Amino acid sequence: MTDTSTTVLITGANKGLGLETSRRLAALGWTVWMAARDTRAATEAADKLRADQPDADLRTVELDVTSEASVASAYDVVAAAGTGLDVLINNAGIIGSFTSTLETTAADFASTYDVNVLGPVRVTRAFLPLLSASARPRLVMVSSGLGSIALNNDPSRDEFGVPGIVYQSSKAALNMIANQYAKALPEVRVSSVDPGYTATDLNGHAGRQTVTEGTDAIVTAASADHVPGAHFDRYGVIPR
Ligand SMILES: NC(=O)c1ccc[n+]([C@@H]2O[C@H](COP(=O)([O-])OP(=O)(O)OC[C@H]3O[C@@H](n4cnc5c(N)ncnc54)[C@H](OP(=O)(O)O)[C@@H]3O)[C@@H](O)[C@H]2O)c1
Repeated sequence: MTDTSTTVLITGANKGLGLETSRRLAALGWTVWMAARDTRAATEAADKLRADQPDADLRTVELDVTSEASVASAYDVVAAAGTGLDVLINNAGIIGSFTSTLETTAADFASTYDVNVLGPVRVTRAFLPLLSASARPRLVMVSSGLGSIALNNDPSRDEFGVPGIVYQSSKAALNMIANQYAKALPEVRVSSVDPGYTATDLNGHAGRQTVTEGTDAIVTAASADHVPGAHFDRYGVIPR
């Protein structure tokens, strides 16, 4: 069924999982704000989607999650457009450098945390006024299985053998941030998701899943029934 009454904003929407999420939610009839730090990349990505979905309501907005000013001006653009905002998907993320645990310095954390941890907080705080005005608001944090302490300690899981501490701990922090937002915002359906290992630029396209498989959990978080505050992958609830 087509739903033209829902508006979503997706950060990092110009490629990878953000682009595929844009495509899938636009196909539901939603108004999709494709946010990207490079406006030309966002426009080109939206044009690519329009080639297959000429009626899609795709809008683009410049948004660098590391810049308070950029986030604030993106908010002004969306607020002025009058579309409202029902769903916010904090998808933008970087892998950072995978130095070995013992060689990693404190400085090695800074840029990855700025995007993966501080970025979602900047964007969420800025867009909360619009989100709170929605009758059915949702907030989605795109995390990773690598952020789960439980999964990292399970020898049967891929996460167990992945070295490094920067990306993993950034997503662990994001998991806790999602958990605490869920408690602080009972009126917003908050969730965090693990897309699973998916072929995108983030991993040099080494991931085993297609971007469609990789966006199943994100689309569920954005549009389907799930317990508020949940953390899940495409197969179901998983431990944070
Ligand atoms: N792929 C996987 O296997 C996998 C698994 C688990 C979790 N994830 C998570 O899924 C999310 C999407 O990743 P992906 O695989 O789709 O990677 P991707 O193809 O590399 O896309 C990452 C997106 O984030 C954007 N981004 C990076 N820094 C930004 C900034 N400062 N401001 C705004 N946007 C920024 C990128 O924009 P530019 O093009 O401008 O760089 C790009 O649009 C990430 O949070 C990632 O951690 C991915």
